[in-house]
Amino acid sequence: MKLKKTIAITMMMLGVFALSACGGKKQDTAANTQAKANEPIVIKLSHVVSAETSKGRGAELFKKLVEERTKGKVQVQVYPNSQLYKDKEELEALQMGSVQMLIPSLSKFGPLGVKEFETFDLPYLFSNFSQVHKVTQGATGQQILSKLEPYGIKGLAFWDNGFKVFSANKPLITPNDIKGMKVRIQSSKVLEEQMKTLNALPQSMAFSEVYQALQTGVVDATEQTPTQSFSQRFYEVQKHYTVTNHGYLGYAVVVNKKFWDGLPSDIRPILEEAMKESTTWVNQTSEQENIDDLKKIATSGKSTVTELKPEEIELWKKATAPTYEATKSRLPADLVTQLKKEVQ
Ligand code: LMR
Repeated sequence: MKLKKTIAITMMMLGVFALSACGGKKQDTAANTQAKANEPIVIKLSHVVSAETSKGRGAELFKKLVEERTKGKVQVQVYPNSQLYKDKEELEALQMGSVQMLIPSLSKFGPLGVKEFETFDLPYLFSNFSQVHKVTQGATGQQILSKLEPYGIKGLAFWDNGFKVFSANKPLITPNDIKGMKVRIQSSKVLEEQMKTLNALPQSMAFSEVYQALQTGVVDATEQTPTQSFSQRFYEVQKHYTVTNHGYLGYAVVVNKKFWDGLPSDIRPILEEAMKESTTWVNQTSEQENIDDLKKIATSGKSTVTELKPEEIELWKKATAPTYEATKSRLPADLVTQLKKEVQ
């Protein structure tokens, strides 16, 4: 009888202990939840260019608007110049959720499997920013961004940079001048084919490696916008620039889809509004920034800048035109047709 009583009391005490532990655990969980509720939502935003470019400043504007309007509930940590991730690494990091937001060039989504973005790389597809905006700021742009979602990525916006020019350590006046040169390109099969139409040797490499590659002769030439060349000081190791404006370079602002979809319903609209305002600011700024940076290169005393005559531009157009045929099997034909129609 005594043993039974002892067992009953012990069981009761264990029960009480378990309950209090549980309650305590509950309190711990509640405390954790409360602590978490008080912690800011952190958006790590990584990109590969200087903070002193339209893209870099656009990222900082987005940060400012978000942190002000969410009253600190969301914190945006901007990592420029490949500080956190460089090309090739960054999209994988986004998919894993190690970083929440990126602003990669449209030329860098092909390796992921989203070939639609490489249509933007087609030479002389666009002649000016208003033609670009007909696509990127309209339904076709949204249709292209939606192709990212099966990869766990949500496309938020298109940001401009500008039109690419060639650079090298000798003047490139006619297409024949670039023949046999090792030209750095972004990771795009369309850019690869474009260089082959010029009988040049395409060398795909990360943006962060380009300066040293030019300095050491790993590559001879580049195709960049003036902003990229100026902000990365490529003109220090490239004596001649030729204003071919042969291709558009723009960006997609992308987030980890799971992260984005999981944002509180009172927070996401604030971020969407901040993204809209940042997009407008970047797309109103980048054209002039490229004009200003080309002037800075021309007056740097380190490089010459050659503006081509219309008949010279026609030679580059003709030389690169076979890129369309060479990429037919890779690019969605209906999209290329659609883009050509929209830019008219
Ligand atoms: C490049 O790699 O040339 C560009 O994509 C870099 C950039 O983000 O402007």
